[in-house]
Amino acid sequence: MRIFKTKKELQDYLETARINKQKIALIPTMGALHAGHISLLDYAKPLSEITVCSIFVNPTQFNDPKDLEKYPRPLEQDIALLEVAKCDVLFLPSVEEMYPDPDEQWHINLAGLDEIWEGEMRPGHFQGVTQVVYKLFSLVQPDIACFGQKDFQQVMVIEHMIKVKQLPITIALCPIIRDEHGLALSSRNMRLSEKGKHQALALFRTLQFIKNNFTSKPLHEIQILATEQLEASDGIALEYLAICETTTLQEANTIDANKKYVALVTARVEDVRLIDNMILN
Ligand code: PAF
Repeated sequence: MRIFKTKKELQDYLETARINKQKIALIPTMGALHAGHISLLDYAKPLSEITVCSIFVNPTQFNDPKDLEKYPRPLEQDIALLEVAKCDVLFLPSVEEMYPDPDEQWHINLAGLDEIWEGEMRPGHFQGVTQVVYKLFSLVQPDIACFGQKDFQQVMVIEHMIKVKQLPITIALCPIIRDEHGLALSSRNMRLSEKGKHQALALFRTLQFIKNNFTSKPLHEIQILATEQLEASDGIALEYLAICETTTLQEANTIDANKKYVALVTARVEDVRLIDNMILN
């Protein structure tokens, strides 16, 4: 695997690939890699000739400086995992390399997708995400970019950015990878004790409850029952639980057979913020 720390090195390398008409897949990450990230790479491999994984803990998407500081950075382990997974290129830039102008301004109209749910809880988060993802897209110019369904709202936001900026990039929405008990894999799980991991399973149970009842009960009733169930679970501090239409992420009251729906949930366990979701139809 080649490791590049500067934009120039990366671009010089990809230039040749482009001349040779090789398909490029990008997997943007913030490191602390786990099987969920590796599944993105496995998804990309058969669809591309060159897989580029980026590891960059992007400061502009953190609204809580403590969260940024505490973000795990097990770099040696990440490199070893990518080597085993046969990633072709790792892009590992510094903050200065990605943001040479520390006062750089960025704003994109995300049609309100950045103001609800995660966007409401973390003001500015999706502006920061689109800022860095746009930089990575411009740099790598991938044919395909892979993102995990676990950050469902993030994928909807990036799809929207692609439309606004008219970028010729296909987005792959890759399924959530769960542990054997159902806990969605996340870099943040490292901060949970065994007890916390067990308590966090309530999120998965509640999402399953919503899916199992999706067509048999009115949506507002399911939402109330699911919220009660989660609030009564040990160690769970619920932030939000919602049943939404997938593209607008507006809360749904009725089911339209032509639309898709997703249940979104966010809660704190042992003060670690966990998010999960499940597509319902
Ligand atoms: O999902 C993430 O890890 C990050 O939000 C991303 C897409 C790599 C942008 O920093």
